[in-house]
Amino acid sequence: MNDESVMRPVQDPCLEVRTPPPPARVDALSREILALKKKVNAVILAHNYQVPEIQDLADYVGDSLGLSRQAAQTHAEVIVFCGVHFMAETAKILNPGKLVILPDKEAGCSLEESCPPDKLAALQATRPDFYTIAYINCSAAVKALSDVICTSGNAVKVVESAPPDKELLFVPDENLGAWVQEQTGRRMTLWAGNCYAHVEFTHASLMKIRQEYPEAPIVAHPECTKAVRLLADEICSTEKMVTYCRQSSARSFIIATESGMLHRLKKECPGKQFIAAPTENCRCNECKYMKLNTLDKLYDCLRTLQPRVEIPTDIMNRARKPIDRMLQIGR
Ligand code: 13P
Ligand code: SF4
Repeated sequence: MNDESVMRPVQDPCLEVRTPPPPARVDALSREILALKKKVNAVILAHNYQVPEIQDLADYVGDSLGLSRQAAQTHAEVIVFCGVHFMAETAKILNPGKLVILPDKEAGCSLEESCPPDKLAALQATRPDFYTIAYINCSAAVKALSDVICTSGNAVKVVESAPPDKELLFVPDENLGAWVQEQTGRRMTLWAGNCYAHVEFTHASLMKIRQEYPEAPIVAHPECTKAVRLLADEICSTEKMVTYCRQSSARSFIIATESGMLHRLKKECPGKQFIAAPTENCRCNECKYMKLNTLDKLYDCLRTLQPRVEIPTDIMNRARKPIDRMLQIGR
């Protein structure tokens, strides 16, 4: 026993996963948030990965496509976006005259970071006939350089609608791009970006959980690697996961996406069991950006109407066109 590593306790990252606020605090804050929301005529939009207490008081909870659609049609004067920054930016682009606020402005995305607009513009300059399809997980400046936007919920349809005579460039998720390529048979140049959270799932970690729950279908997000996608019974956006699990006759499901999804699934499919797919090192998988938003920060942002999403007008105008094109194509 002279090897120190044998004696050191193993650090389980799951132990660092947040503890939810006490129920009395959740109730009190939720009441105040709803009162403030009414006072300023706001709508609260929340992504499926948000913490349960935010999902529970949002007006709408969904995937990126559903959230964009809600943002496009809201009559509220203020949009409170509980998700990550690029999602709030999309809401602002669709509503330039409205106030769009988010609980934590630092809520970024590894995919957005992987595709700086100057690098994309440099690549496009070398291949002027590229038709650029951008996954919505990118900055407004990247959207402004793109021909059309897609989400995981409509990527196949968007690629199928792309002009047949054009060379396609797909940014910034190489895993989603590869999956869409398999689905459509359309060859694309793929930008080398990925979601740092979804690539944590591995073939081995999924095989292990499948042995424990052999009857449970594996439902995976297309941001997972091919090695994981090969094991999946269903590959789809977070919103389509809800539909799939609701309609399936299975009683248990292994869910390979961010663990916030389990709260939504449990609410929508009572009586069914949802198992968070493990990664190599962890029993669940959290997006550190999505989890920056808390009920306290949501309360503060409604009280102060800060932080706000601001985008230069020329970028906003140019980014609007490919988003509108996407919304016309549909799911
Ligand atoms: P969905 O649009 O499927 O919810 O995906 C968004 C996302 O960021 C996945 O990591
Ligand atoms: Fe971005 Fe991944 Fe977080 Fe989704 S889960 S917001 S793709 S970092």
